[in-house]
Amino acid sequence: MAEHPAYPVGLRLTGRRVVVLGGGQVAQRRLPALVAAGADVTLVSPSATPSVEAMADTGEIAWERRRYADGDLEGAWYAVVATSDPEANAAASAEAERRRVWCVRSDDADAATAWTPATGRAGGVTVAVLTTEAKDRDPRHTAAIRDAVVEGLRDNTLVAPQHRTKTPGVALVGGGPGDPDLITVRGRRLLAEADVVIADRLGPRDLLDELPPHVEVIDAAKIPYGRYMAQEAINNALIEHAKQGKAVVRLKGGDPYVFGRGMEEAQALAEAGIACTVVPGISSSISVPAAAGIPVTHRGVAHEFTVLSGHVAPDDERSLVDWAATARLTGTLVILMGVDKIGRIAETLIAHGKAPDTPVALVQEGTTSAQRRVDATLATVGEVVRAEDVRPPAVIVIGPVVAVGAPTQKPQK
Ligand SMILES: C[S@@+](CC[C@H](N)C(=O)[O-])C[C@H]1O[C@@H](n2cnc3c(N)ncnc32)[C@H](O)[C@@H]1O
Repeated sequence: MAEHPAYPVGLRLTGRRVVVLGGGQVAQRRLPALVAAGADVTLVSPSATPSVEAMADTGEIAWERRRYADGDLEGAWYAVVATSDPEANAAASAEAERRRVWCVRSDDADAATAWTPATGRAGGVTVAVLTTEAKDRDPRHTAAIRDAVVEGLRDNTLVAPQHRTKTPGVALVGGGPGDPDLITVRGRRLLAEADVVIADRLGPRDLLDELPPHVEVIDAAKIPYGRYMAQEAINNALIEHAKQGKAVVRLKGGDPYVFGRGMEEAQALAEAGIACTVVPGISSSISVPAAAGIPVTHRGVAHEFTVLSGHVAPDDERSLVDWAATARLTGTLVILMGVDKIGRIAETLIAHGKAPDTPVALVQEGTTSAQRRVDATLATVGEVVRAEDVRPPAVIVIGPVVAVGAPTQKPQK
């Protein structure tokens, strides 16, 4: 038979019977996508890998614990033949041909009537890569092409202009702690689609340089706020740009809802009737200690971590933190916005019973090239901050986890 290229197509399998023969590694790789496509999957196999078994246990697939038998493909729209028995595979493949069921075979691509492409998703499209002819089949090469396209779409190095109209509105995007690689894929995509970006001083500022020239970038710290409070001025800027039909990204450091005033912005947008989507981000409270080699929990050392704001001193009437209760916690304390007040905070913790020699680490500008870690104890931290000239932004970690792991880890680049 002359070799013709395979005909690419997207199967819509929702509610349709799909039979998978064999519960090994091939099934483990194929089943999640079949389940995600809504297929009504039956696995026929005497055994299965633990992951496949877990899918059966949760009811995502039906599992018949036996070997393949003629007739198993009745009513199927699609079959994956991947048992370890070549004779069973050949028999199932013959049954598929007889019943006109499209069938992939893990052991013999030539005998299959369908091939599984290397697939990936980015920005609302599915990328599927197939070699043109069976003789050129090279799964590593197709996977590498898939990876290159998906990565390119995600980080915008592969430019594919969108012609559908963008949805106007505001995305509150958590940008992560500063390293541009630590924003989420969704956040990066929304940034690439934005008409206007209103950015904080903290977060992945390097990403702003990559935006195309037509994107208006506004520094939130520089929005003139006249008789408004700064936050109201930011809310108004978001509302006004969105009302002009623009796609607006509010790029925030860390996670929008961790001391980020994200909900205030979401509420203001809701009151103005503007669509708002929130994209979580990697909070500095966890990622900055990690970048400096400090785990916020560690087996046998800390079974809890508490994130606190140190922007007001413990004796300030505006403080909502119960410092006496905090001093009794045995786990890790992570303090944000606390550089100025750490001396008073440390004194208060000691006064309420925390050991003066409790280890403390201050991690300044974590995950950036300027990252620096300074170590102290509760008794010395007030003095050390001054002597070492530690400046915001810094995350302060208090507790025995500080002494676990590598003390001088630098950000990985
Ligand atoms: C207004 S809070 C915002 C927190 C942010 N929403 C988050 O989830 O990380 C700002 C504080 O976060 C901490 N912070 C944020 N990014 C940091 C970084 N790269 N290095 C050290 N501290 C950081 C500092 O304590 C800073 O004062």
